[in-house]
Amino acid sequence: MGRFAYATPLQARTHMSNVSNVARAIRPNLPISDPESLRLENLFGVAGKVALITGGSSGVGRMIAAAFVANGVRTYIVSRKQDRLASVVEELSKFGDCRSIRGDLSTIEGVEACVRAYGDRESTLNILVNNTGAVGSGALASFTPEGWDRVFDLNVKNLFFLTQKFLPQLRAAASAQDWARVINISSIGARTTSANGPIAYATSKAAVEHLTRLLARQLADCRITCNGIAPGWFPAARNAPLGEAAAEEWLRQTPVGRLGTTEDMGGLALFLSSRAGAYVDGQIITTDGGKSL
Ligand SMILES: NC(=O)c1ccc[n+]([C@@H]2O[C@H](COP(=O)([O-])OP(=O)(O)OC[C@H]3O[C@@H](n4cnc5c(N)ncnc54)[C@H](OP(=O)(O)O)[C@@H]3O)[C@@H](O)[C@H]2O)c1
Repeated sequence: MGRFAYATPLQARTHMSNVSNVARAIRPNLPISDPESLRLENLFGVAGKVALITGGSSGVGRMIAAAFVANGVRTYIVSRKQDRLASVVEELSKFGDCRSIRGDLSTIEGVEACVRAYGDRESTLNILVNNTGAVGSGALASFTPEGWDRVFDLNVKNLFFLTQKFLPQLRAAASAQDWARVINISSIGARTTSANGPIAYATSKAAVEHLTRLLARQLADCRITCNGIAPGWFPAARNAPLGEAAAEEWLRQTPVGRLGTTEDMGGLALFLSSRAGAYVDGQIITTDGGKSL
């Protein structure tokens, strides 16, 4: 063990328990002993898991919720407006198990209340999707410190503390064969620039991306992976005011020639939540039809 440096005690234990397999593992083209493990249900199946999606009542969060619910995940969505929550729960409950927790995640008190409300119903959490985010408004000259804090509190600080406070349930769900998953929703804005884009938002998303990598390193010891999704344009309440002309301009700059769909977003979230995505850790996966190229 002395000649290896391990990032975490779990990695050290895992390595030692695997060490007798290493000699076999480095031999290429071993026989495929279990073709069953390669079937779609085994690679991408998520049925029986429990997920919580912040901001699951609209846009990207609702898309991920729909994909989870349709594939047998008991899915909790969290947001502020009761009528939106009720309508999405009604819609998604037609094909699976969708539940809601009303909450405002812009404050630490709101974060704690959400974790308590979830803890009253469930003892384990397989998948946490940190999706909700504020864009903020205001040009460079008129941006206020309060506006900056609103964006960073929701997008970065409370994403971190929600993850921290859900650790007991995530750890309880995680097994050696199937680690728990944290998925942070970033934005291609984290890595692109524009003359009049939302500065605090884009900076906060860059922070989310590095936080994702840091969390991946630290959560590994609890058998939890942490990855990010960086979307391009997906139809969402916050995009609607940008109007058709902006969407058309976006399309002109997008090689795939269309906006994102529920299948695009849901499929990626399913991948990251399933056996197929179990070896992906600390990565930000862009889904933008090539726009950021
Ligand atoms: N759509 C895109 O094209 C796109 C592109 C890049 C990145 N993203 C990212 O995707 C994520 C979701 O955005 P979206 O575009 O899907 O927005 P959206 O359609 O406006 O949905 C936002 C969701 O978050 C909830 N929410 C807002 N503030 C909240 C708070 N303080 N506490 C709890 N819930 C809150 C909203 O419900 P209530 O208002 O009822 O609380 C709603 O469910 C964000 O992180 C965003 O940066 C989206």
